[in-house]
Amino acid sequence: MPKLAQRMSRAKPSTIMLIADKAKKLKAEGRDIISFSIGVPNFLPGPHVYQAVRDSLDKDSGQYGSNRGNAALLDAFIEHMKGSGLEGYGHQNCAVAIGAKHMLYNLAEALLDEGDEIAFPTPYWTSYVDIAEILGAKVKLLPCPPEQRYKLSPQQLDEALASKPKMFLFNNPSNPTGMVYTKDEIAALADVLVKHPETWIVTDDIYNRMVFDGVGYHNFLHSRPELRDRLIFVDSLSKTYGMPGWRVGLMAGPETVANAVVTLNSNHITNVPEITSVAALAAFSGPQDVPQAKCEEFAHRRDLVMDALNAIDGVVCPRPQGAFYAFPDISFAFGKSHDGKRIENDLDLCAALLESKGVACVPGSAFGEPRGLRISYTCPADQLEPGMQRIQDFFAELT
Ligand SMILES: Cc1ncc(COP(=O)(O)O)c(C=O)c1O
Repeated sequence: MPKLAQRMSRAKPSTIMLIADKAKKLKAEGRDIISFSIGVPNFLPGPHVYQAVRDSLDKDSGQYGSNRGNAALLDAFIEHMKGSGLEGYGHQNCAVAIGAKHMLYNLAEALLDEGDEIAFPTPYWTSYVDIAEILGAKVKLLPCPPEQRYKLSPQQLDEALASKPKMFLFNNPSNPTGMVYTKDEIAALADVLVKHPETWIVTDDIYNRMVFDGVGYHNFLHSRPELRDRLIFVDSLSKTYGMPGWRVGLMAGPETVANAVVTLNSNHITNVPEITSVAALAAFSGPQDVPQAKCEEFAHRRDLVMDALNAIDGVVCPRPQGAFYAFPDISFAFGKSHDGKRIENDLDLCAALLESKGVACVPGSAFGEPRGLRISYTCPADQLEPGMQRIQDFFAELT
């Protein structure tokens, strides 16, 4: 039989999906499972989104769409960015893809040759490593342990960029930690970035509307607009608007980069489906009450999760201020036992937690930080407190 391409030996299925699938399987077997594993929002978009889609069906042309993206959607995205203080973009700077994941893949393909270096902080969103590995790029990890609140320091960034990586990938607010950089922290990192003109900067800021405590969303461009000719801003409708299955991701950046993404789109997908574009347009340009209410709800859930985690002796969790994740350091439990089973690492701990308490979390090693555990708190409201109680019980039972 002929062989698969070599790059497939480097491609792995997502660990998060493996855990979510295991939790689903146990549930199907009748087990009482609470899933804190997958990062999907627990709400649907507002009714105006569905109405816009219904209305559009009567006017469907059935034709291929634009490789760059539906023009009205691009207009709405450009307006939407202005709300985040990102101004001055035109259609020529933007492109649409099948979710931010596809956009990040496109950008990596457009900007990285095989062997090029891509630098990003750990903990990282799992697909960063997977995409880099498929494309044969060299990954440079910048460790940001819980002791530094999972945040990159300017000095670390300066040292990392000294080797002139082709791309620096930055995610704020963070999946998996929920950390949000303050205005001053972003400004200090931006000051470092201006000193390293050889590196493309990609800001994966898909949770930029999910920020709590009045911290606000800040991009390097806010303090250093001169970075604009090499910075690419990535956004998505998945989390903010409760639309992960609709698959819309977008970018804004230099014209050359947007054009490269358009070329890749023209060869990979032709266009994001028109029906999806209509839904995205309605979400961006219609009432914003659903995302605003959800952001408030997630801030409240964060408080609940943190109260529960703080009550567990030995667990340390830097306080998340955005997205819908908490990432406690649970390493004090390594070397202990639960129900006679020894827990050597995060994988053992997640397996024991799922087995004994029916709670699914994702092991930190999936995000490059094996001392951690990701809790995604988007489960149905009535499961959050019982789920956290089960986690407390689990840790209390360690010997
Ligand atoms: C940090 C980060 N970037 C990108 C994505 C991909 O989002 P999308 O659903 O738009 O592909 C995710 C999804 O979990 C994410 O957490």
